[in-house]
Amino acid sequence: MELTHRHRRLRTTQTVRDLVAETSLSPRQLIVPLFIVEDTEKELSIPSMPGYLRIRFSGIEKELQELTELKLKTVLLFVKAADELKDNTGKEALNPDGLMQRAIRKIKAFDQSITVMTDVALDPYSSYGHDGIVANQQIVNDPTVDVLMRMSVSHAEAGADFVAPSDMMDGRVSYIRKALDEKGFINTGILAYSAKYASCYYGPFRDALDSAPGFGDKKTYQMDFRNSEESVKEALTDVDEGADMVMVKPAGAYLDIIHRVKQNVHVPVAAYQVSGEYAQIKAAAEKGWLNHDAAMMESLFAIRRAGADVIATYFAKEYARIYYASGTIS
Ligand code: PBG
Repeated sequence: MELTHRHRRLRTTQTVRDLVAETSLSPRQLIVPLFIVEDTEKELSIPSMPGYLRIRFSGIEKELQELTELKLKTVLLFVKAADELKDNTGKEALNPDGLMQRAIRKIKAFDQSITVMTDVALDPYSSYGHDGIVANQQIVNDPTVDVLMRMSVSHAEAGADFVAPSDMMDGRVSYIRKALDEKGFINTGILAYSAKYASCYYGPFRDALDSAPGFGDKKTYQMDFRNSEESVKEALTDVDEGADMVMVKPAGAYLDIIHRVKQNVHVPVAAYQVSGEYAQIKAAAEKGWLNHDAAMMESLFAIRRAGADVIATYFAKEYARIYYASGTIS
């Protein structure tokens, strides 16, 4: 046959494929979410997140050692607060000796060069399991922002490099920025969860931290999955208000959103491959229905290809191990 175009030439060998591959993913671009629990916690495993363990306060250094060996240098912290510390004001979130604040200090003492990011939202501390303060069955915006500002300052005082508000309250980025600056934390950054959808994919995470909403759902603050336009509006607003990076969450079912947001902002775009995305791949692999490593790779590269500069993922360690073992994926 006389063919002008033989597209397959660029796919003939692994070397050629590697030569022209458009997308790469280095462990330096990964954020490792960590679930920190008190030493009294009996159970570390999370049934809906096979292979992902909660970390006891006293086990933090060991985990960091492993991450360091894999050159994973950025962590995103979540804590599980005891039930008796939960209320409707989020006061434990401000406790200078709270689990979060102690964990930040411990990580920074272990290695100052680890970038510590912290989740800022009230759900682990809320007796209602909501991200904000509740009044008359409503999650009230402005009083919540007031606590989030103080919570962010408290994390910065403990040594956090970036605070990551995941609450989806309006105006929180500008107020957090102002609060940080007023206290002199001009170099503490803000990674804003800008386009965070109300998603069933957070289910396993809520098991991990025992933080499921006690009533209703999160649809009055997290975004409607039928929408795309407002992801751009949210991201632009957060950048205007001072966000250093924006995040899209979840990732895998929202690749179009990652792509749109990336085209519309001039700050790094992060994507969060959330607990349910991890659980899906683990479950299918356990059943022998998907090849685990191949599904993990494909999902992560799809997120990168869509436009994510940075990816938060529970696969970080597994990805890094494969990355260093093989020369062909980077
Ligand atoms: C808390 C928060 C959630 C996640 C990150 N921060 C849960 C939620 O909003 O209900 C989900 C992460 C995951 O599922 O991996 N505001």
